[in-house]
Formats: sequence, structure tokens, C-alpha cells
Amino acid sequence: MKFFQSIKSYLTSIPLLMLVIACSDLEPDIAETSKIELIQSSARWYSRDQVAQGRLVFAANCAICHGSNAEGIAEDWKQRLDDGSFPPPPLNGSAHAWHHPNSMLIQVIDNGGAAFGGKMPAFKDVLEEAEKLAAIAYFQNYWTDEIYGQWEQMGGTN
Ligand code: HEC
Repeated sequence: MKFFQSIKSYLTSIPLLMLVIACSDLEPDIAETSKIELIQSSARWYSRDQVAQGRLVFAANCAICHGSNAEGIAEDWKQRLDDGSFPPPPLNGSAHAWHHPNSMLIQVIDNGGAAFGGKMPAFKDVLEEAEKLAAIAYFQNYWTDEIYGQWEQMGGTN
């Protein structure tokens, strides 16, 4: 009797299981696309594909210090650490990454912070140019239109 009951519950769970499988097959794409679309919709220099690529580059190389959503991990990024260096700042528009045109952001990514006693590692030979740009696209996608506009006035894509 118990055996049949468990068979029965097994059988009734199959359609549900299939539904779950069918959905989970579709879900990542939809979730990813709409997430990327939703963050920022106005005209920007980068494409959605770059943001999607940048998300992966950022997760693998930057998130450990700058936070998965570029929100930073330090309580106060302006407060020096005991060794005199600064903690990694947020890159989501709440700190001052938007003061720098892309050429300078690339320089920071290439050379890291060693030149001024900072702790950011250099990515010059670690990432392709397209990956560096994609990482920038990823964190700029968190910037409001207002911050993005100010960044354009500071040099933007120059
Ligand atoms: C080991 C920690 C660490 C990693 C990994 C790291 N950073 Fe940084 N980042 C820092 C620190 C710390 C600073 C502040 C400058 C310094 O002290 O080197 C910084 C500064 C920056 C700045 C300048 C921000 C500003 O407001 O001027 C940018 C842009 C940046 N990082 C981008 C990146 C990107 C993109 C990656 C991944 C490819 C990355 N960082 C990986 C620690 C890190």
C-alpha cells in the first residue's frame, strides 16, 4: 500500500517536475536580459552585450574587492586603512569613478594602485581590451543618467 502511495505521489509530481525543468531552462536568459535592460535604459556608449560580458569579467576579477554590483565592500571608502592605503571604492556611481573619462579608467585597470601605494592589482596583461571596456560598461550601467551626464562632461568616452 505504502509502495503504491509513493508511486502515485511520484507520478503526480512528474508534470510539476517537467514544468520546473522547462522554466528553469528559460529563466536565466529572461532574468538576465530584463535585469540588464532595467538598470539603465537611456542612450549609452555601450551595448547590452558589453554589459552582459562585463558582468562576467567583473564577477571573476573585480567583485571580490568592489562588490558584485560594484557597490563597494568597505564601510567608508574614504577612510584610510591602517597601512595608509584606501579601501576599494564603490564603482556604482556613489563614489568618484565618474570623475574619470574611460581612458583614465582603463589606465587604473591596467596599472592598478601600485604607483600611489594602493592595493589594486594591475590587469594590463590579465584582461583583453574588450574585457576591460566591458567591465567599465558593467559598472557604468549602475550610474544614474545624472551621474552619467556629469561623467560625459568630465571627458566621458575620451
Ligand atoms: C584586490 C582588490 C581589488 C581588485 C581585485 C580590483 N580593485 Fe579596483 N581598486 C581597488 C582599490 C584598493 C582601489 C583604490 C585605489 C588603490 O588603492 O589601489 C581601486 C580603484 C579602482 C578604480 C578607481 C576608482 C575611482 O573612484 O577613481 C577603478 C575604476 C577600479 N578600481 C576598477 C577595477 C576593476 C574594473 C577591477 C577588475 C578588473 C578591479 N578594480 C579590481 C582594489 C581592487
